[in-house]
Formats: sequence, structure tokens, C-alpha cells
Amino acid sequence: MKNIRIAIDGPSGAGKSTIAKYAAKKLGFHYVDTGALYRGIGHFFTSRSLEITQDTIDQYLNEIGIEVFYDADGQRIRLNGKDVTSEIRTGAAGMAAAKVAAFPEVREKLLDLQRSVAEKFSVVMDGRDIGTTVLPNAEIKIYLTASAEDRAQRRYLELIQKGEATTLEQVLHDVKQRDHDDMHRAVSPLRQAEDAYRIDTTGFTLEQAEERVIDYISGRLSDVL
Ligand code: DC
Repeated sequence: MKNIRIAIDGPSGAGKSTIAKYAAKKLGFHYVDTGALYRGIGHFFTSRSLEITQDTIDQYLNEIGIEVFYDADGQRIRLNGKDVTSEIRTGAAGMAAAKVAAFPEVREKLLDLQRSVAEKFSVVMDGRDIGTTVLPNAEIKIYLTASAEDRAQRRYLELIQKGEATTLEQVLHDVKQRDHDDMHRAVSPLRQAEDAYRIDTTGFTLEQAEERVIDYISGRLSDVL
């Protein structure tokens, strides 16, 4: 049977990763969190207290080795041989990821890695440019979004639960900044693919959002199998 590719794109905090992971589990597909790859590269710079500029990208990009592998809990990321899966989940790593993601060399470096996972397995892949650039021929494409206020509220609760000291105002500011960075970068900006199905989860509980996504995928799967 051919591999099926499901692309889920959208702004930060729309619930993409939780929902994509849930869908992948239901379908028995591999979940690919592409944001984690950008976070891994961002982490390389922040953990060395290096500014992210064209100069440092030129100087260090070749030294950065990113690998994706899977264990019983799902996807894990290695940065130059070290498992950084947990370390890259901070707000700072997210901001650094958005910065490195603006450099075409960084996106190019991660393109083959993302495509190679989709060649090996049926995947639910989430990111910003999966339906537009990474897997333009994906069988199913979803654009998942919600209001900035809703997304900030969710992200704030997540960060607080992890013990990060922050405020809702700060998180809302970061969400808006990240939307701006993601939507306005010159290469592969975040945008809805023409053939993507838009789901707006503003005001939805997580369960309601999961149900909408699964309903849509189930309806489409019979067409693409
Ligand atoms: O989904 P996330 O918050 O982990 O993503 C972190 C950053 O990585 C996000 O601000 C933009 C970037 N990113 C990207 O440019 N392209 C992707 N396919 C995934 C993430």
C-alpha cells in the first residue's frame, strides 16, 4: 500500500501538534513535528549564547547535525548526537526557531530530512509550509487556526504547567510576534495552501477540535486510499 501524507499547517498554538499526534495515533501513522527541527537548530545557537545572524548561520550551519528518530513515545530529535527533545520545548527555543526559520539555507537543510520521513512511512506532518512546500502533493491538507487570544491562552497554560515564569500578556505578545515572523518571511511563509481545508478552532475544546479534524480526515481517506 502506498504511503499516505497528511499535512497540517497553521500558526503557533492552534493545537496542531496535539491534534496531529492524536490523529497519527488513531491512524497508525508516524507523527512528524517539523517545528522541533527548527527548534533544534535554534537551540544550537541559544545554548551557545550565539546571536542568530546571517554571519553566524553561515559560520555554523554546516556543523549542525539534526536527526529524527522514533521510540515508543514517538518522535525524538538529536542535535549533534545529543537527544534534545525536551530541552527544545521552551518559549525561548520557539522564538529562536522562528528566527532561524527565516534563513533559506536553514529551510533547505531541513527539506530533505522532512521528505525522507514521509517516504519511509505514512505520516501526519505538522508545520507551517508542509502543504505548500515540503509535501505539495500530500493526499490530505488541513490548515488549522484559531484567534491569537485563544492560542495565547492555551500556550500560557502549557508553559505555566511546565513551570516557566511568564504572563498571559507576554505570551500574547510572543504569539503575535511569531505570527508576524512566520507570515512575513521571504521564504516559505506561513499561508494556507489553495487545496487545504481550513479548520478554525476558536472557542473549541481540544476534544472538539480533535473530532473536527478526525471527521474531516476520515471523510477524505476513502477517496485517497
Ligand atoms: O510549531 P513550533 O512552535 O514548534 O515551531 C517553531 C518555529 O519553527 C515556528 O515559529 C516557525 C518555525 N517552523 C517553520 O518555519 N516551518 C515549519 N514547517 C515548522 C516550524
